[in-house]
Amino acid sequence: MRAIEWSYWLVFFGLALACGGAGTTPDKTASDQAEQRDSPAGAARSDPHSFARPDEAVVRHLDLDITVDFESQRIYGEAVLSIDNLAQASQLYLDSRDLDVSRVSLDNEGETTFRFGEEDPVLGRPLVIDIQPQTRAVHVEYSSRPQAAAVQWLAPEQTAGGEHPFLFTQSQAILARTWIPLQDTPAVRMTYSATVRVPRELMALMSAENPTQLSTDGVYHFTMPQAIPSYLMALAVGDVAFGELGPKSGVYAEPALLDRAVAEFQDIEAMIAATEELYGPYQWGRYDVLVLPPSFPFGGMENPRLTFATPTIIAGDRSLVSLIAHELAHSWSGNLVTNSNWDDFWLNEGFTVYLEQRIMEAVYGRDYSEMLAILARQELDNTLEELGPESRDTWLHLDLAGRDPDDGMTDIAYNKGYFLLRALEEAAGRQSWDDFLKSYFDHFAFQSIDTEKFVAYLKAELPKNAPQALEKVDIEAWIYGPNLPETAPRPTSPAFEKVDQYLAQWQSTGTLDTAVPAQWSTHEWLHFLRHLPSPLASEKMANLDEAFQLSQSGNSEILAAWLQAAIENQYEPAMPALEHFLTTVGRRKFLKPLYTALAKTPEGKERGRKIYAKARGGYHSVSAATIDEILGWEE
Ligand code: BES
Ligand code: ZN
Repeated sequence: MRAIEWSYWLVFFGLALACGGAGTTPDKTASDQAEQRDSPAGAARSDPHSFARPDEAVVRHLDLDITVDFESQRIYGEAVLSIDNLAQASQLYLDSRDLDVSRVSLDNEGETTFRFGEEDPVLGRPLVIDIQPQTRAVHVEYSSRPQAAAVQWLAPEQTAGGEHPFLFTQSQAILARTWIPLQDTPAVRMTYSATVRVPRELMALMSAENPTQLSTDGVYHFTMPQAIPSYLMALAVGDVAFGELGPKSGVYAEPALLDRAVAEFQDIEAMIAATEELYGPYQWGRYDVLVLPPSFPFGGMENPRLTFATPTIIAGDRSLVSLIAHELAHSWSGNLVTNSNWDDFWLNEGFTVYLEQRIMEAVYGRDYSEMLAILARQELDNTLEELGPESRDTWLHLDLAGRDPDDGMTDIAYNKGYFLLRALEEAAGRQSWDDFLKSYFDHFAFQSIDTEKFVAYLKAELPKNAPQALEKVDIEAWIYGPNLPETAPRPTSPAFEKVDQYLAQWQSTGTLDTAVPAQWSTHEWLHFLRHLPSPLASEKMANLDEAFQLSQSGNSEILAAWLQAAIENQYEPAMPALEHFLTTVGRRKFLKPLYTALAKTPEGKERGRKIYAKARGGYHSVSAATIDEILGWEE
């Protein structure tokens, strides 16, 4: 087995070298084309983050045959792209970044020529393949490189089991091109099939129909019959086992975590039922969750049929499962109706936060979802303050051209988007608004749309059920303007008001009543910790820590909020817990505020850099890029 893999690899490299990374040199090569035509911002390009030209020739289906080689940290093999050559084009433009291509052939011609365009550090380089008007399929033999930004190769020590390596990909927003040559724009949707070869003791999973058991030969076959955008391509390989939750859902996790994961996610079937009731049928067959090792850079990623999730949501009391509601909601908002371009990111995330809250309300009640809404409002207010309320990045419709989309994809899309939809709900009345949303998902199912399409549909359809609604919400100001309109909804929560009273009482009396917080839910704790008086003397911090064991909290959200306060108040006794957290968890949402708080003082920054020197190697590239920036880190 090893020997076969190895020889395949040598042959591959031999070919790659022979080709010098570009096509052989026949008479009519793609390189004859003017270089400037590759620009993603060119006239007819609708997506500034892709070199693809789907209006000329568009990929409809992808068939992968790949090998995952942990030793060389490469994914290599063949991608067969079935295309529709709409404009009888003589070139197919694909996206690639850190990919080596050894050979390209056509269904109708055999081997063909290709070239790479100029490299952009964020976008990578266009792979331009010579095709013919009648070409139906393009075979690309390629290999990813060890530094492929989507892929994290984990050593056994980075897993719960500690015995086997692990691999996962994170393709959103524009990283699919670092492990597959394709048209990496959410405007293009394709179906896919894949054969994936992995070490025999590991299971492979994708954003597709998945196995529940190890194969005997390390070979796995996948199909995704619904057309999806490239950012939903996903692969994970590791020592995982499957646990059933219900007829439509289950969870994959490392064996050491499986029981806890199964217990935590018991409400998933109820969430699916609630969402179907609100927005129509779940269109993807099964809904499973894969719990990844803690370096996963996000809370969750809505890979179709298989949400990828951080283990930090396993709190033991199901109190962080709104994240699952969020990723499940993307099965409608995002995966079914997709933003056609990252400037329209709020169509994915704003709608999803809104759906998330509706699911949480349906399953856990309005009091619960209102707590989430207040936390969202607080986060939004903080983001507006950080960005500056007049910043261009506070528009819902973003302008990300010429930038790494990752830099402009903030909380605005999520929470300002959420509050716009909530404002519309309040203006239209719940029934009319629900009817509208259901018809929206139905109307645009399996399409990629932009903000203008949504606005046009809203203006055409909503007044039919709610004639006055749009007079009450200034859509243009929300979408094409900065800050938050004055009329934005302001949720209230009696539970949080009690927490405020408790805080006020503690401040005025100076004595800590320990009975009240003992009853608090995670969200009341978060509200409390985010509103601690500032500054807070170490002695008071110590009182809290002793009374509630906050530095030892097993709830990642509570611990992160506490560590934030500890940094801000220079509470030394929590620093070992901080170091432990930062060196074991790679979730960017936690890392970013903690390192930012550290970087505010020279001593803190020094501490942050010391910790980061140990931690960085364990982070996914997405998190490392963010923290590099915060600490001014250079490799
Ligand atoms: N799709 C996002 C994650 C994402 C966004 C990855 C942009 C890359 C670029 C996912 O659905 C998400 O929003 N995750 C959140 C959780 C949520 C509850 C707000 C996260 O990871 O924190
Ligand atoms: Zn999301």
